[in-house]
Amino acid sequence: MPNTAILEVDGKRYEFPIIEGSENERGIDISNLRKETGLITLDNGYMNTGSCLSAITYLDGEKGILRYRGIPIEELAEHSNFLETSYLLIYGELPTKKQSEDFRTNLTRHTMIHEDMKRFYDGFPRDAHPMAILSSAVNTLSTFYQEEESQPHGRKLTYSILRLLGKLPTIAAFSYKKSIGQPFVYPTNSLTYSANFLKMMFGVPAEEYEVNPAAEHALRLLFMLHADHEQNCSTSTVRLVGSAGTNLYAAISAGIAALWGHLHGGANQRVVEMLKRIQAEGGDGEKFLERVKNREEGVRLMGFGHRVYKNFDPRATIIKKACDNLLSKMGISDPLLDIAMKLEEAALKDDYFVERKLYPNVDFYSGIIYRAIGIPLNMFTVMFAIGRLPGWIAQFKEMVDSPDTKIGRPRQVYTGPVHRHYVPLAERG
Ligand code: ACO
Repeated sequence: MPNTAILEVDGKRYEFPIIEGSENERGIDISNLRKETGLITLDNGYMNTGSCLSAITYLDGEKGILRYRGIPIEELAEHSNFLETSYLLIYGELPTKKQSEDFRTNLTRHTMIHEDMKRFYDGFPRDAHPMAILSSAVNTLSTFYQEEESQPHGRKLTYSILRLLGKLPTIAAFSYKKSIGQPFVYPTNSLTYSANFLKMMFGVPAEEYEVNPAAEHALRLLFMLHADHEQNCSTSTVRLVGSAGTNLYAAISAGIAALWGHLHGGANQRVVEMLKRIQAEGGDGEKFLERVKNREEGVRLMGFGHRVYKNFDPRATIIKKACDNLLSKMGISDPLLDIAMKLEEAALKDDYFVERKLYPNVDFYSGIIYRAIGIPLNMFTVMFAIGRLPGWIAQFKEMVDSPDTKIGRPRQVYTGPVHRHYVPLAERG
């Protein structure tokens, strides 16, 4: 196979190297394009642009493959747990027994938040969206840990990592407690990551709280399935913000803000809102699909379609199965699940969706699981953020550890007015 690409502009030929990844993915290295030709590329939505070399996550959208550090997501879902998966993503290898124990112990030293931080919760309106609180609170962490305020490396980065992984569930659960007027429940370090989160969400100081093992299992699975997804919108945001030399808290805070968008992580909340609307209208989704296909303003089949997956999303396959299992274990029958399954069946047979290669994505069934566990609708995207945190961290770390990192600074093709002079106010019509 040729390892150069030829570009001809104005009768002049230029050669650019083709680089190949470990899974034989090929890309044209245009680092010298502007220097040599004076031209830039234009790529709306970065549909064809690779922004970095990365050894963290591999996905093949045609074949529905997703692997963290080479290990298929299906194997991790079956055998691993969230902290081990986080370690794998961040440090590149599965931990030994000792590394695993140390990681867990060190992390549990950082699960509480500074008592002064609790007062911020009084300042937010009670009905504030928890994603806004999450993003603000994470950025605030740098005011409490000022030694990590400039871009951390080495030991300081290790502390930022442990603090974020330890504190994010606490920050998230406190925002929920505040919204319903209940006292904050402090972390319990003897519990697993997911069980501790469930206790902080649903426990009250007046009673013992028993974690439902089926709920714990389902939450752990969802956290793992969300843990990384290479250069998606929020991860690219984390890298872009971090490339300016910010600390980890600032970069992750920006990533949380990006994830909130309804075309990205915010879709999980929108899916359940859509299913509820269909239910309230008394339909099975047929009319709704017509509205989607007629391209009514703002109407999309939420939880369907993906920039990269054009066959199936392997996470959706695992989540659908887990959803069935959880509901039957908990003895729950959710009419929204029936509507979702009917919608999926109809869409997968419909030319509109088939032609555009639109399939259920990670968000289509995850909301049904969150509902079964008792997570309120506006916390769904927060669950996604907790799951995605190790991926954001791993990508930030890979970026700051790389000697090739440059500040992210795209170019543009200017289309505004050409040179003209300032007109004084009195002379304007
Ligand atoms: N419902 C209806 N039509 C859709 C949908 C959908 N969910 N998704 C894509 N399309 C159509 C588009 O209208 C477009 O049609 P056209 O070519 O006739 O104009 C075509 O399919 C291609 O879609 P684009 O929006 O160009 O694809 P893109 O890669 O830019 O967008 C995205 C991907 C944002 C995920 C899109 O599929 C979407 O909006 N899905 C619904 C929101 C969602 O579920 N987001 C979560 C994604 S997963 C994640 O971020 C965690």
